[in-house]
Amino acid sequence: EHVTLDVSKLTSFVRDEEVDHIKIQTETAADLLKSKEGAGNDFLGWMDLPVDYDREEFARIKAAADKIQSDSQVLIVIGIGGSYLGARAAIEFLRHSFYNNVSKEIRKTPEIYFVGNNISATYMKHLMDVIGERDFSINVISKSGTTTEPAIAFRILKKKLEKKYGDSEAAKRIYATTDRAKGALKVLATEKGYETFVVPDDVGGRFSVLTAVGLLPIAVSGADIDELMKGAQAGRELALKEEFKNNEAMKYAAYRNLLLRKGKQVEILANYEPSCHYISEWWKQLYGESEGKDQKGIFPAAVDLTTDLHSMGQYIQDGGRFLFETVINIEESRETITIEEEESDLDGLNYLTGKTMDFVNKNAMNGTILAHTDGKVPNLMIKVPKQNEYYLGELFYFFEFACGVSGYLLGVNPFNQPGVESYKKNMFALLGKPGYEREREELLRRL
Ligand code: PA5
Repeated sequence: EHVTLDVSKLTSFVRDEEVDHIKIQTETAADLLKSKEGAGNDFLGWMDLPVDYDREEFARIKAAADKIQSDSQVLIVIGIGGSYLGARAAIEFLRHSFYNNVSKEIRKTPEIYFVGNNISATYMKHLMDVIGERDFSINVISKSGTTTEPAIAFRILKKKLEKKYGDSEAAKRIYATTDRAKGALKVLATEKGYETFVVPDDVGGRFSVLTAVGLLPIAVSGADIDELMKGAQAGRELALKEEFKNNEAMKYAAYRNLLLRKGKQVEILANYEPSCHYISEWWKQLYGESEGKDQKGIFPAAVDLTTDLHSMGQYIQDGGRFLFETVINIEESRETITIEEEESDLDGLNYLTGKTMDFVNKNAMNGTILAHTDGKVPNLMIKVPKQNEYYLGELFYFFEFACGVSGYLLGVNPFNQPGVESYKKNMFALLGKPGYEREREELLRRL
């Protein structure tokens, strides 16, 4: 069993000849990626990570996770964008739906909170309230080591940690994941003696979930990172070796570009499991940042269903027809709850007696797919056999490989992100950062 792509609901939108046509282009794009001769080829480290990773560091990640589990009630993970979303996606997908709230007996591992992914004072103060006087550690993650949001959060929480434990004990509770050699965080880590983990030079933020960036928080949560890597290895084998007709990642890249060329400019990733919410957030960054450039690209959007059928359902069914939908189908539910008979049947649900909640959920999914298809929203489905570490590893690789192929099909460099800099320049100027005086004057005039 593997992660697979189901295109059976696309027949009324896409003809076979069209697929034949884009197949050739997709093969060229995949060859370009595999030969490592395309644009952005100095950022392809993610391609071989599942087989070619630093074993010594991997062991240190596990040891650090053990230590944090034994000496901390709370782990604070500081990071933003690619230094945030992968870990959160994995932990929410793999662990308890109410991870931080459920009893320690069920969770067994430290509570984990993410910060440095916004600049909200309210969020920070409330986080401090949650930590209270409890034992905690910090994993600060920043590839550049200079990103404003995590840097501010780290400054504040490092203070709290140092006040509680003193400088030298605090230093033993700070784990820095950053560049091997450069950046402010690396300098500080060396000076203070923090344990450090590396974001490899050739792995961009949004492709970094299978480095220490994702692996340390994931390991602290109690998820099995060996299985995650094994699944990614399987995903890599399939992506690199299979020919188009059996290559799910290549097909996903091909079909989404086919649909884009027909004017479907927005892809909605839809899930029926709330624990997939952050998978969608991670996916949005992966595809949005990789493809949205040179005034091109699919706009990646996401819905949680059936929740959002009661808010966005109307639009998807009947609004502007520039959408297509990709459903993530977790084929086997992690839990089984059976609906029981009620004597009075006031809610009229007795016809479901003996059926599972997942049976209802899957029928809601299938009914929705057909309704959306009738409403002229083309539908793709990604089938994930089970919600576990192995298939998550496969899914991560599937999306990453498809993203590289898709970007080349679109004709962009999928591995840079020049647009991310624009807001930073303005923010620094408005904040009065030295060196931005001229820009500041210009912006203040416009405000
Ligand atoms: O993909 C990217 O490059 C960004 O989303 C970064 O991951 C994000 O800005 C965080 O950067 P850094 O890890 O350097 O703090």
